[in-house]
Amino acid sequence: AIARLEIHTEIDSTNRALMRDAATGAPCGTLYLAESQSAGRGRLGRLWVSPFGANLYLSMLWRYSAPPATLGGFSLVAGAVVADVLRRIGAEGLALKWPNDLLWDRRKLGGMLVEVAGGLRGPSALVAGIGINVRMTPDHGRAIDQPWVDLAQVLGESGVDRNTLAALVVEALIDAFERFGREGLPPFLALWNAFDLFRGEQVRLLLADHEIRGRVLGIASDGSLRLETADGERCFHAGEVSLRHE
Ligand code: BTN
Repeated sequence: AIARLEIHTEIDSTNRALMRDAATGAPCGTLYLAESQSAGRGRLGRLWVSPFGANLYLSMLWRYSAPPATLGGFSLVAGAVVADVLRRIGAEGLALKWPNDLLWDRRKLGGMLVEVAGGLRGPSALVAGIGINVRMTPDHGRAIDQPWVDLAQVLGESGVDRNTLAALVVEALIDAFERFGREGLPPFLALWNAFDLFRGEQVRLLLADHEIRGRVLGIASDGSLRLETADGERCFHAGEVSLRHE
């Protein structure tokens, strides 16, 4: 359930704020929404362009008394859950790119930033941040350093109401937090793989000092990427690599 809800007109970053408040005892089920972020955060320290009233920016805190071993793997879960919600409201042709880009027509529609927060006995809480482009203007888009798209383009005139979208995402997220606590990553793998942009395709994986070629087999139960390489099957973890289409 939602234990506490804050809706901010402007905030630095819903993730950053919730990570701060997690350290001072914010309860499991704390949800922050914002109309705009002055310092929205993407993965790898990137900026997440967060103009006022245009998009969905939310973060939710979940605490586990017995955290799953693959706590960080929740970013894959969040991606699968968001893609599934959007498909249910009529978005077709969505894809996930490992580890967690949400794409449409190879353009960025949204992103997930999951951070692990500590407890007294080690990591035990998650802050899941979700950003979905809903209705951007070309002016907003100019600040984004990669091809992007919004739901208004994906869904056409029918569009989507931002409040309805927020409610659907939060509902699905809560279910996912609970199920992940009980069963970990395995129950979500099929859903993730169904959206995998590169499933079955030949890719190049760029590591720090070399690259590896292989065919994408899917996601392993610890969240790593399974590749069929010349040396047989190998698994790669998030953060090590980036993925390029052959
Ligand atoms: C990415 O693809 O790089 C992840 C983007 C995550 C953006 C969301 S918007 C709400 C939450 N607050 C943040 O500062 N970031 C996440």
